[in-house]
Amino acid sequence: MCGIVGYIGKKLAFPILLSGLKRLEYRGYDSFGFFVLDSNPPATPNKPFLFKKVGKISEAEGELSNLKVDGGIGIAHTRWATTGAVTEVNAHPHFDCREDIFLVHNGIIENYREIKEKLEKEGHKFRSQCDSEVLCHLIEKYFNGNLEEAVRKTLKEVRGAYGIAVISKKDPQKIVLAKLSSPLLLGIGEDEFLVASDPAAVITHTRQVINLDDNEIAVIKPDNFFILKEKPLVQIEWTLEEAEKKGYPHFMLKEIMEEPEAIENAIRGRLMIEEGSVKLGGLDSISEKLREINRLILVACGTASFAARVGEYMLEEYAEIPAEVDIGSEFRYRKPVVDKNTAGIFVSQSGETADTLAALKEMKQKGILTLGITNVVGSAQARETDAGVYTRSGPEIAVASTKAFLGQLATLAMLTVYLGRQREMALVMGKRIVSELAKLPELAKDVLKSAPEIEKLAKKYKDYKNFWFIGRKYNAPIASEGALKLKEISYLHAEGVAGGELKHGSLALIDENFPTVAICPSDSVYEKMVSNIQEIKARGGPVIAVATEGNEDIKKIVDDVIYIPKTLEMLTPMLSVIPLHLFSYYVAALLGHDVDRPKNLAKSVTVE
Ligand code: F6R
Repeated sequence: MCGIVGYIGKKLAFPILLSGLKRLEYRGYDSFGFFVLDSNPPATPNKPFLFKKVGKISEAEGELSNLKVDGGIGIAHTRWATTGAVTEVNAHPHFDCREDIFLVHNGIIENYREIKEKLEKEGHKFRSQCDSEVLCHLIEKYFNGNLEEAVRKTLKEVRGAYGIAVISKKDPQKIVLAKLSSPLLLGIGEDEFLVASDPAAVITHTRQVINLDDNEIAVIKPDNFFILKEKPLVQIEWTLEEAEKKGYPHFMLKEIMEEPEAIENAIRGRLMIEEGSVKLGGLDSISEKLREINRLILVACGTASFAARVGEYMLEEYAEIPAEVDIGSEFRYRKPVVDKNTAGIFVSQSGETADTLAALKEMKQKGILTLGITNVVGSAQARETDAGVYTRSGPEIAVASTKAFLGQLATLAMLTVYLGRQREMALVMGKRIVSELAKLPELAKDVLKSAPEIEKLAKKYKDYKNFWFIGRKYNAPIASEGALKLKEISYLHAEGVAGGELKHGSLALIDENFPTVAICPSDSVYEKMVSNIQEIKARGGPVIAVATEGNEDIKKIVDDVIYIPKTLEMLTPMLSVIPLHLFSYYVAALLGHDVDRPKNLAKSVTVE
C-alpha cells in the first residue's frame, strides 16, 4: 500500500528512484512523485527537483526518461489513495510552508484532522487534502537545525501508521526514516544507502538490508547511517529474475504458472515420508508448547483468509484440534475469549497486512502463543510472531495473490501433519498425506496444461456480468477465492458460496445469464454437489464444472468441464484453485484490463 524509495550516495539519485518506483508500482499506482536535492537543469540550477503526476509511471515513461536530474539525494513515492482524492497536489512528496522539508509517507495518520486544525490556527498553510502533509508542517514547527530531532518530536504527536522518508534543505546530506506498522527497510550498498518499503526496490543495488522496527528512527548519509539501536543485517533471498516477468505478458500469469513451484518450494526438505511426518524448523522452539494447545484461531485477510479456512478443515479433520478462522479486521473488535491453551496462526503473504498485524498484537497482549505463516522473510509478522513457517513462494508482484495461496495451503497441510502427529494421527495417515503432498507439484503441472482450454472458456464466458462459484467442504473456501479473484481483476460481479447454501436464498438469482463455476471433485461431498448443480440447471443457469479426471458422467449435466487429477480430498484445493486463477486471468486479460494493477487496489494493505 503505497511504495517508498529513497537514495543517498555517489550516483545520480533520479534513475535509481525511477527504477525502484517502477518495481514498487504494484503497491499503489494512482499517482507518483519525486524529490531530488541539488538538481541541475531542467530545474533551475541548484534548485531541488520536485515532480508529481497523476496516473501510472508506465504512462509517463517517455516524459520521465527525458528528464535530466542531477543530485545524489532523493525520495520517491507511488500512491494508493487513502485520504484525499487522486490529484497531483495530493501526490507525494509533500512539503511544508517554506518548501524546506520534503516527505514521502506510507500509511495513515488517524488524528490528522485535529493536528491540521491546530497547525492552521498557528498559521500553517496547507496545500493538499492528504493526511501526510501534517507531518511536514509538524516537522517544520519543531525544526531547529536537526532534522531527526524534529522528526522525533513530530512522531510523538501522531496516531496511526507510517513509514516515512524525509529530506530537509536546511539539514541536507541526510535522509531521515521512521516507521510504525508500515514496512520500511534500509538497503546498505557500497558508498550508497537506499530506503524502501519493499525489497523489490533495492534488489538491483544490494542484498544487505536492515528491516526497521516500529518506533525506530534512522538517519542515512552519503557515507554512513545510524539507527537508534543495533540491528542485524538480513540477506534478501529473492533473485532479480524472480521479480521479473520472464516473457509473460503479466506478472499474474507468470505467478500462476509458478504455482507448482510454489508447492514444491514450500515442501522442499520438509517432508519425512517414512516417519509420516514433517520437519518444520521454525516450530522447533515451541514444539513442546504446541502439544498443550487445544484450540486454534487462524487470522488472515482476503485470499489468505480462504487458505486459512481450508486450514481450519484440515486441522479439525486430521489434527483433531478445534479451529476457527477470523478475518484480521474483525478479530480485535469482537472481544474474543481465549485461554492459555489457545494458539493464533497468522497467514499472510506480505506479513505486513495491517489488519492481520493488529490482530496479532491483540493476541500477544492476551499472552497467547502466536505462529506465522508468511512469505516475506523478515516482515513484521515474521518478526512479531513467537514462531512460524515461511512459505518460500518467492516474490509475488501482481496485486492479486495466486502462487502465495498455494504456498499457504501446502504449509497448512504440513502444519496439520505436524500437529496431528503430536496427537492421535496414525503413522499410516501421516505417511499418506506426506506422500500425496510430495506428488502435488507434478499434478499441479498437469492442471496448467489445460491453460489453452481455460482461455477458450474465458472467451465464451467473458461477456456475462455475474457469476456464482460454489464448492463444499475443502472446496467451499476455494469457491470464495475463485469469486474474489474474478471480481478483483475483471470487475465482473462474482460471489462464492458453499454449495449447500444456494437453496437458502441465492438460487433466486439463477437464470440463463448467471453462470456458475462448480468445484466438484470426486470426494466425500461429490453427490451433494451434483444435487446443487442440478438445482442450478433446472433454473437454466449455465455451469462450468471443475471435476476429477475420468468423471465422464458430469459432462451429461453441465455445460463445460475442466478436469483436475485425483489426490487426497484435503489436498484438492491446491489443484482445483489453479483453473480458477487461470479463468480469472484470461477473462480480465481478454476484457483488456490492467491485470497486475487492478483499479482501486494495491498489494500489501498496510492501513486498517
Ligand atoms: C486477493 C489478495 C488479497 C490479499 C489480502 C491479504 O487476491 O491478494 O485479498 O490476500 O490483502 O494479504 P496478505 O496475504 O499479504 O496478508
